[in-house]
Amino acid sequence: MGKTMAGKKVIITGVPGVGKTTVVNEALKNLKDEGIEYQSINFGSFMFDLAKSEGIVSDRDQMRSLDRTIQKRLQQHAAQAIAKVPGNVLIDTHASVKTPKGYLAGLPEWVLREIMPDIIVLVETDDDQILIRRLSDETRSRDKEGSKAIAEHQQFNRAIAASYAMLTGCTIKIVVNADFLLERGAEDLAAVLR
Ligand code: AP5
Repeated sequence: MGKTMAGKKVIITGVPGVGKTTVVNEALKNLKDEGIEYQSINFGSFMFDLAKSEGIVSDRDQMRSLDRTIQKRLQQHAAQAIAKVPGNVLIDTHASVKTPKGYLAGLPEWVLREIMPDIIVLVETDDDQILIRRLSDETRSRDKEGSKAIAEHQQFNRAIAASYAMLTGCTIKIVVNADFLLERGAEDLAAVLR
């Protein structure tokens, strides 16, 4: 199991709809049976709760379109709050966020400095599978984009993850969450959390 006193800090990322929350839930269920506990934290929820309390959004999918300076302030607030959580922590967030003005780093220096992750996980799968998962999920207002744009976003996330490794010395793990192979993805994630 991870570090004894400070706990292990693992960040999990992936483009919207790749299924990171699904993989996290499955992996944590398996680990619980082995007596390994992680607190699972959604970075976007910390941002959303503040943005909602300030009356600037009513839906979490509106946050991507907020002014860049506002998104950065919300990020900083989330990072500072999450850094205080003790023990093993699994943080569900984004390597980059697609905004109307281009990609915004999900883990800029001021976020990484607070959290100092041990590992950053990139959850990936085929672009077409992500497209279909987004179209099937009626509970969210997903960006309407084709599989080429999804492929570009996944490529960009690998590139920016390399810079996060340079800044923090963390490792980068790619976990594939393919259709019908959720168990395999969850086991790959569990292996890095043990
Ligand atoms: P967040 O809540 O993380 O939104 P999201 O990216 O849309 O994440 P989801 O949880 O909806 O998608 P998921 O990939 O976890 O997929 P799921 O498991 O549901 O963030 C919200 C917002 O916060 C962001 O848009 C951004 O604005 C902001 N934010 C967050 N972090 C930020 C940061 N660091 N900086 C700036 N802003 C930030 O699965 C999707 C579907 O696929 C489901 O229907 C599921 O059943 C299906 N599925 C999953 N796995 C499989 C499988 N193996 N086979 C078949 N179907 C599958």
